[in-house]
Amino acid sequence: MSKLIPVSDLTEDAARAELAQLAEQLTRANTLYHGKDAPEISDAEYDALKRRNAEIEARFPYLKREDSPSDQVGARPADGFSKVAHAVRMMSLGNAFDDEDVQDFDRSIRKYLGLDGAAPLTFTAEPKIDGLSLSLRYEKGQLVQAATRGDGEVGENVTANARTISDIPHAIDNAPDVLEVRGEVYMSHEDFEKLNARQEEAGDKPFANPRNAAAGSLRQLDAAITRARPLRFFAYAWGELSDPLAETQMGAIDRLRDFKFSTNPLTKLCATTDEMLEHYRNIEAQRASLGYDIDGVVYKVNDLSLQARLGFRSTTPRWAIAHKFPAELAWTRLEGIDIQVGRTGALSPVARLHPVTVGGVVVSNATLHNEDYVAGRDAKGGTIRDGKDIRIGDWVQVYRAGDVIPKIADVDISKRPDGAEPFEFPKTCPECNSDAVREEGDAIRRCTGGVICPAQAVEKLKHFVSRKAFDIEGLGAKQIEMFYDDPDLPIRTPVDIFTLRTRDAKNLNKLANRKGWGAQSAGNLWDAIEEKRRIPFGRLLFALGIRHMGEAASNLIATHYGNWAEFEQAVTAAAGFEGPEWEDLLSVDGVGEVMARALVSAFAQNAERASIDKLVDELDVQEAKRPDTSGSPVAGKTVVFTGTLEKMTRAEAKARAEALGAKVAGSVSKKTDLLVAGPGAGSKAKKATELGIETLDEDGWIQLIGTA
Ligand code: IVH
Repeated sequence: MSKLIPVSDLTEDAARAELAQLAEQLTRANTLYHGKDAPEISDAEYDALKRRNAEIEARFPYLKREDSPSDQVGARPADGFSKVAHAVRMMSLGNAFDDEDVQDFDRSIRKYLGLDGAAPLTFTAEPKIDGLSLSLRYEKGQLVQAATRGDGEVGENVTANARTISDIPHAIDNAPDVLEVRGEVYMSHEDFEKLNARQEEAGDKPFANPRNAAAGSLRQLDAAITRARPLRFFAYAWGELSDPLAETQMGAIDRLRDFKFSTNPLTKLCATTDEMLEHYRNIEAQRASLGYDIDGVVYKVNDLSLQARLGFRSTTPRWAIAHKFPAELAWTRLEGIDIQVGRTGALSPVARLHPVTVGGVVVSNATLHNEDYVAGRDAKGGTIRDGKDIRIGDWVQVYRAGDVIPKIADVDISKRPDGAEPFEFPKTCPECNSDAVREEGDAIRRCTGGVICPAQAVEKLKHFVSRKAFDIEGLGAKQIEMFYDDPDLPIRTPVDIFTLRTRDAKNLNKLANRKGWGAQSAGNLWDAIEEKRRIPFGRLLFALGIRHMGEAASNLIATHYGNWAEFEQAVTAAAGFEGPEWEDLLSVDGVGEVMARALVSAFAQNAERASIDKLVDELDVQEAKRPDTSGSPVAGKTVVFTGTLEKMTRAEAKARAEALGAKVAGSVSKKTDLLVAGPGAGSKAKKATELGIETLDEDGWIQLIGTA
């Protein structure tokens, strides 16, 4: 275990590089997933990459990328089930990997709430079930709907299947009129073994682990199949409620048990972090004998009014965390090192491994991050793995952090084959032969080919059509690869997608006559493309694949400028990285200098700009929707907080104001609409008075925004 590269040992540069790499890998995985061609990585590996990403972000919050994969939850709903929009978004959990992380969790909550270290603060601690989450909706005590998490906002309607699960009551007594019960569907070890024996007997492929078996069983289109698969359900959370269940987490769990749900018997109330950690070790010791898979322990703030104050980050609650069990390890031989070229030209080494089972999942490739990592160096010239490099033919130790992370933890040089040479990292792009260069301070070597590099162009296009971007049905990663090299109907840049139909018409509608195509599939594709000519501003900006421009940031920028024309005019005017337009861009909350530069540079670059302009000519770009803050008294206003706040911390006040559609600024200017001044307010209050800006004290502010 000690050989594992713990996040705590990562240098800042290595962390930054790894985050960049993870963002690329996860984007790629999303694209492949969307294209419905065989994804390169399993769901578990995907989850594991996301976890590693979150782990690094937790250690280096300031390195969190604007396009961070953490701001995206789960996978899209599969076709075949109807979709269900969750009344309350289904969240995931942040991770803790060691005791220190748990202490930090406690500390950060206290800080947010303004509680000192001695103030009482209790948590529940319970096993984290390794299954899949399900939301059950009861209206007037009747089960009316069951939905998987999906992407957190929209899941799959699996009501018929959920009804076959004996732990799920069809009707409950004395329940609130609207009650959404959330929990985990899982399969016991015993049932899993039996199911796999049946699968093998029937000549069907066995499931890799109980979680896959549970997922495969719940997501059966034929509920009769689900019925034959013994699934179970633990309730541990809730969504929409017409009346609160209780005042505490524990009280709510008790209510769920009264409603005849199974709740986990190892759920315990803990008054200190020591007690939480003790319970963690207690659960870990029982892990093998529980009879079902768990992958950690979840801690939740017990007081529900504190949970409400703490609220959520983009996809995780501040009031809960999952403390994961340590990674599993296995040794195998490194058969080769491939270099993949990403959308932004990053050359990423990928280990091709002799397949090895690591905790129930077969791993045959792993990330090697970058050239320094392969060479046993960190980006600052220090060593990793005691300076041991990785060579083809080496025995390497593979690990999966938490669940399934295909990464290399160590190398056994005593088993190194004779004549094994150090890996020579290519200095040219393996796809287009352009120079691949490493800029000062960058851990990543990048292809300089830009648009001439087919790998970059293809990856950019794949990103363009991916789920969070244009999401064109029937035009996924696989089709992009096919069309990219098509002699008659090439798609080389995004605009080519929207001219495809007219080009095909000039080409005698030959697409329909191709092998594997027909009038119907060609027609479907034209319709799907047509449908996406109307595109929201934020999506378009994200789809362009400009470096550092993630989904969240794209949407922030879209909301800031409202419409495309205004935005385009502003970024063009900001070309010199100075002046009011530049300042205005930097003032957008969540837009940093690096991102702003990348954005302005992209629009200042002739070829890229021409390609964007041509694309936009083909589109109908929708104005950005402002967040729904109807009824909010402070929507669109700029608020400044100063002095001491006594009822909430600054962080909480800021989060609340922003949730209500206000912009929180650090200093008072003519643009300020409202100053909230606590005791001790000084120069800001004075300036506000001079400028005639409305000033409230904390109580006035609370009264204004209400307690909601
Ligand atoms: S609480 C708002 N409790 O872990 C927080 N989640 O990694 C809701 N999970 O999506 C989740 N056991 O599917 C919670 N005891 C437990 C859990 C648990 C398993 C799953 C759940 C969630 C995922 C987050």
